[in-house]
Amino acid sequence: MTTAKSTAGLAGVIAGETAICTVGQSGVGLTYRGYDIADLAANATFEEVAYLLIYGHLPNQKELTRYMRQMKKLRDLPAAVKAVLEQIPSSVNPMDVLRTGCSMLGALEAENRFQTPQQAADRLIATFPAMICYWHHYANNGKRIDTSTDEDSLAGHFLAMLHREKPEEVFRKALDISLILYAEHEFNASTFVGRTVVSTRADLHSAITAAIGALKGPLHGGANEAAMMLIQRFNDPDEAEAGVMELLRRKELIMGFGHRVYKKSDPRSDIIKPWAERLSALMGEPMLYAVAERIEAVMRRERSLFPNLDFYSAVVYHCCGIPTELFTPIFVISRTAGWAAHAFEQRHNNKLIRPSAEYIGPAPQPFLPLSDRP
Ligand code: COA
Repeated sequence: MTTAKSTAGLAGVIAGETAICTVGQSGVGLTYRGYDIADLAANATFEEVAYLLIYGHLPNQKELTRYMRQMKKLRDLPAAVKAVLEQIPSSVNPMDVLRTGCSMLGALEAENRFQTPQQAADRLIATFPAMICYWHHYANNGKRIDTSTDEDSLAGHFLAMLHREKPEEVFRKALDISLILYAEHEFNASTFVGRTVVSTRADLHSAITAAIGALKGPLHGGANEAAMMLIQRFNDPDEAEAGVMELLRRKELIMGFGHRVYKKSDPRSDIIKPWAERLSALMGEPMLYAVAERIEAVMRRERSLFPNLDFYSAVVYHCCGIPTELFTPIFVISRTAGWAAHAFEQRHNNKLIRPSAEYIGPAPQPFLPLSDRP
């Protein structure tokens, strides 16, 4: 591991090598295995992107057909996982549901029981939509839903389970594109956590369980939910402007803005933003988009900050009828492809990740027996 000088939050520190993704390199905003995110979002499906990340190349037609068939077969939840999900109260953060479900699945179906580690990753991606939707319906309405659907795509499968009806294509497509955009992002906090776990030679389920924990925080994946709550606070753009100005005056963070690596814009935001506009108009909620746009304008004007992927994704998810507390779990479904790719890459040329710390504690001192302590 090559490190520069110790830096707070490891900002700017090169903590390893990767052939999976570039973020914010000059000339290209974001690439997955050399493919520009704009090309992938415009021309590929989430399944093609997941395959690209996990298996290392874009699938040809035969590989894709086989992969889609396989992913469909892998969707079912074991009864023991359902039983665990039923124990989780409706009041918990749904990220805890996926963290628990992932861990339970790993206990039942250890990685080394699969023919290849990639198949263990496929199984996780295929089951996460069912885990979250099964729990959501059971915890909130006491209903044990059938988690099998006719939908070929994961996006359609998720929406069909959530709403208990076939999704309209425009919503399915919007969700599919958002899954592509969320699938991978180099050495972000959760991916680095996952790589650290597998660097100890632990299993994939342990890595993904830990990564889910890291993603939960509002400075990382949790930002899309916080962004939605912010947008919904305002009835119109003027109210939003006044409200955001006040938050900035109080030095509060505006969720869904800024980024550790991107300095001028997040290329993913430019792709999801038109979908937010389209869907909010379609849903008869144009004010939602108008409020979001005004928040963006204020943030650019006042702080030169730009929306990251989470900001307009929140509007898209809301328009797809997805409850706000399920936004970050959707991120998990998608990012598992990236986490798994990094786990396998880490193993390929592994070195235990164990950095050093700069000590700032007390100088060496004599031990005080209990009776002498103040
Ligand atoms: N709202 C208001 N101010 C922000 C801001 C935001 N969303 N993001 C950054 N800033 C300000 C900071 O307060 C800081 O100001 P200061 O220099 O006056 O103290 C400055 O910009 C630099 O921010 P910093 O927190 O040091 O940058 P970072 O690289 O550590 O943080 C994020 C990056 C993403 C954690 C940060 O932008 C943030 O918290 N964003 C909101 C959460 C979010 O959307 N997360 C999803 C990321 S994809």
